[in-house]
Amino acid sequence: MEANSGEPKIELGLEGVYISKSSICKVDGVNGKLYYRGYPIEALAKNSSFEETCYLLLNGHLPTLDQFEEFNSKLKAERELPEFIVDMIRELVNKADTMDVARCAISALSAYDKEAYDDSDDANLRKSIKLIAKTASIVATIGRLMMGKEPLKPDISLNHSANFMYMLNGEKPNADKSKMLDLMLILHAEHSSNASTFSTMVTGSTLADMYAAVTSGIGTLKGPLHGGADQAALKMMKNIGNPDNTEKYIEEALAGKKRIMGFGHRVYKTYDPRAKIIKAELLEIQGNSVGDVKNYTTIALRAEKMMIEKLGNTKGIWPNVDFFSGPVYTYIGIPMELFTPLFAVSRMPGWCAHMMEYWQNNRLLRPLEYYVGNIDLEYTPIRYRK
Ligand code: ACO
Repeated sequence: MEANSGEPKIELGLEGVYISKSSICKVDGVNGKLYYRGYPIEALAKNSSFEETCYLLLNGHLPTLDQFEEFNSKLKAERELPEFIVDMIRELVNKADTMDVARCAISALSAYDKEAYDDSDDANLRKSIKLIAKTASIVATIGRLMMGKEPLKPDISLNHSANFMYMLNGEKPNADKSKMLDLMLILHAEHSSNASTFSTMVTGSTLADMYAAVTSGIGTLKGPLHGGADQAALKMMKNIGNPDNTEKYIEEALAGKKRIMGFGHRVYKTYDPRAKIIKAELLEIQGNSVGDVKNYTTIALRAEKMMIEKLGNTKGIWPNVDFFSGPVYTYIGIPMELFTPLFAVSRMPGWCAHMMEYWQNNRLLRPLEYYVGNIDLEYTPIRYRK
């Protein structure tokens, strides 16, 4: 669109721009509602499992029992990692950020997949299953090596979340905690054309393969304005330290024009429905927690109250999915460095589902920039330049 001056109308941050039609996910930012393939997130949180949610996102419908069992056994069969990937993680861990290690290892999986460059629908579905299963093993292995412990082989008697906890901690997790992790994975599994899904689609739209596409997504997820906000929010809670410092800390941060990580959203201008569900978990944890978890929980709830009073109704800045996650993950026993890689574990089905949908009607994603620099400058050879 041309503005009066002849300049095009620029949608900074692509805000409000639709790039495609999709039947995967609806984010209703006005009413604070979220649907995966038509199912309200609250119903999936209450009744589903991460594995079933993956099936739903990838296939477009809930599975029958037989379909679920077949899908689940395929996921389990793909958990094991090639030896080289484990060695690669061993080499990189504690040198690079955990998200960078995850990005490298997930990207390298293409070398071990004979179908990596087969772009048929069936091969892409198989790649999605591999990526979902192996990303969890990669992130658990990063955690294990980061703590100076030897990596473990997956245990196929366990479901996805319990196996992740087992591969991380070396013991079968308590059922409540693995259920809580399962819920967190469901809540993070998909969110329409968010930044990391969009960058996955940009890469995929060039007809690069699934591994290349999701590797872009992981790179994008890392930033603190997107998936990295979960770590940043917990770091803030650590900095606050004593719950009684909460209000002063928030007051000073806002006065200094700092952002409070875990608040605000491009689409939700009301309470993020995922944050509401995570807050309910936090309230359960609060009663029976001690030490750091109790402190973080109290700080999070006091910060939330103050932020809503100050910015909720006035500016539409409410808690998002990343705000309460840190205390919950800490309670489950997941170290902070794994929060954002764990986000990649949960978002993998969303990235893959979007790629498979977009490829059905692919068009290269290529927006424009309005050039405001010089033109026709005279080229001076280097020896004459001052
Ligand atoms: N704390 C304080 N102020 C905020 C916050 C925040 N978390 N978020 C937005 N604002 C303010 C901005 O300073 C700006 O104020 P101004 O109008 O006075 O300049 C106004 O709200 C609008 O901010 P924008 O950055 O233009 O809004 P946008 O839609 O681009 O931002 C974003 C969305 C990036 C998520 C932003 O809210 C933010 O930075 N939040 C903190 C990071 C975060 O939690 N990210 C995770 C999002 S969920 C996810 O990706 C999984």
